[in-house]
Amino acid sequence: MFTFTVNSPSPTPAFDLLGVDLLGVGQLDVDQLRADTRGCSEVIHLNNAGSALAPAIVVDTMVDFLRQEEMQGGYEAHAEAQDRLDNVYTSIATLLATEPTHIALTESATSSWDRAFASIAFTEPFTSKSRILVSSSEYASNVLPIMQIVKRTGATLEFIADSPEGVTDLDSLEKLMDESVALVAINHCPSQNGLINDVAGIGEIIRSTNPNTWYLVDACQSVGQLSVDAPAIGADFLSVTGRKFMRGPRGTGFLYCSSRALAELEPFPLDLHGGHWDSALHYSVRQWCPPI
Ligand SMILES: Cc1ncc(COP(=O)(O)O)c(C=O)c1O
Repeated sequence: MFTFTVNSPSPTPAFDLLGVDLLGVGQLDVDQLRADTRGCSEVIHLNNAGSALAPAIVVDTMVDFLRQEEMQGGYEAHAEAQDRLDNVYTSIATLLATEPTHIALTESATSSWDRAFASIAFTEPFTSKSRILVSSSEYASNVLPIMQIVKRTGATLEFIADSPEGVTDLDSLEKLMDESVALVAINHCPSQNGLINDVAGIGEIIRSTNPNTWYLVDACQSVGQLSVDAPAIGADFLSVTGRKFMRGPRGTGFLYCSSRALAELEPFPLDLHGGHWDSALHYSVRQWCPPI
């Protein structure tokens, strides 16, 4: 999954070593991208899987906004930025080939994943009969809350075997699938090895063996680096961070939610953005999509 970004004529295709157009963007002007990234003049930074060098426009926008908050107040600065904030939903939706109503903005990939998992656990509580399948490379922060639920409910946690190539093995998954599988959680690209799991193939197996299973994809290391069509994957959720291949600010993330998730799950914990306190003992959930 390494891209040619150095020592090649510009503009440079965002191709990997096999010549695959990873981002689906064709030509990237690498010289311009490097010129737009002040840190490139200081370091050769290869830790994008950790946290990438942000372009100047990202850092300048954040600093300007903080200054504006300092001088005008947080709510006033927020109101002035409202159009730009609304556009974030549209640009993320375009990136993932979906609609803005399917995008939630969060503080991190972990927060995105946790919210999806909590909504599943709240709406359709796991029981001692529930099975949860995860990829062997699942991110630790995703497995820990699953383990908590397993400890409390008696549900079982099972790891899907890898193929000889090291990715999640589709045949093994198919053998594990039945009506007791409540959730499958898959890492699109593990942080430690750069492999790419066939998340669309996994989605097909899940849908054909148990359409009731919830399917959660950690796309933290793939979005921004690979071309990702969220609806085509067939996942109910995709969790993403801002600070890696999106080259956004730390403390940002987003969550793609499928039509099924929006229609069948209640967001948990609900907050003012997703719900309304109607009267002393009543609340309502904000409706984003028509029921499917
Ligand atoms: C696969 C994967 N998932 C989730 C995360 C967590 O991202 P965040 O810090 O935005 O919660 C990381 C970060 O390293 C990651 O590599």
